[in-house]
Amino acid sequence: MIRQEKMVVVSQQQIARNIFELIVKGDLVQDMQEPGQFVHIRVADSFEPLLRRPISIAEINREESQFTMIYRSEGRGTSLLAEKAVGATIDVLGPLGHGFDVDAAKAKAYLIGGGIGVPPLYQLAKELNAKGVETVHILGFESKEAVFYEEKFKALGETHIATVDGSHGTQGFVTHILNELPKDFDTYYSCGPTAMLEAVQWAYPEKQGFLSYEQRMGCGIGACFACVCRTTKSETDYIKVCSDGPVFPAGVVIV
Ligand code: FES
Repeated sequence: MIRQEKMVVVSQQQIARNIFELIVKGDLVQDMQEPGQFVHIRVADSFEPLLRRPISIAEINREESQFTMIYRSEGRGTSLLAEKAVGATIDVLGPLGHGFDVDAAKAKAYLIGGGIGVPPLYQLAKELNAKGVETVHILGFESKEAVFYEEKFKALGETHIATVDGSHGTQGFVTHILNELPKDFDTYYSCGPTAMLEAVQWAYPEKQGFLSYEQRMGCGIGACFACVCRTTKSETDYIKVCSDGPVFPAGVVIV
């Protein structure tokens, strides 16, 4: 069920350059089904900025009815969000979309993320580990200052970091790390820029994979067609990333 709720800020902190971790509390958490779903946040009470911002769900705490979002403060909307202090309320619409199929992985999974695509992989890693699936995390960032959650991922399994400028971990992209790693996993899950998703799926054509797309969105609920993409099924077959995804099996979406 999708709800709209005024959720209360429990914690807000900057965890990397321009990256904020925001924890909110409310009933909507009980409807979250899968890692990889997202919420749509209305960032200001006035009409400006009017649109909501889609933000992925990094961690779900059902016992406390809380969930964690990690977002990049870049435009006016998200910088207003970064000003919300503990006790403030935020208008949240969600949970939205379809997330990762946690049951697909059998014994070992690669979780491959880039930048602001990393957060949903954290809840996914937790759920896979809880099911006894070994997870290996391959995470890419711009630079050392942009890295977040490295220790949290390490606590769940083998973790490799790449930075574009080489200031931390391997220099380059996640694909540089993937080239060096064994292919001894059964399933991969990936979230990040489209170019990265493309590279990942071409690296493992023989593996079962799931990709979460970062697409520009309007309504977030399948009504405005802002997020449509073609599929590999036919010339005229389209999907909406917001409501049919954002997670799709590898080889389905053409972007
Ligand atoms: Fe409106 Fe997807 S964002 S249909």
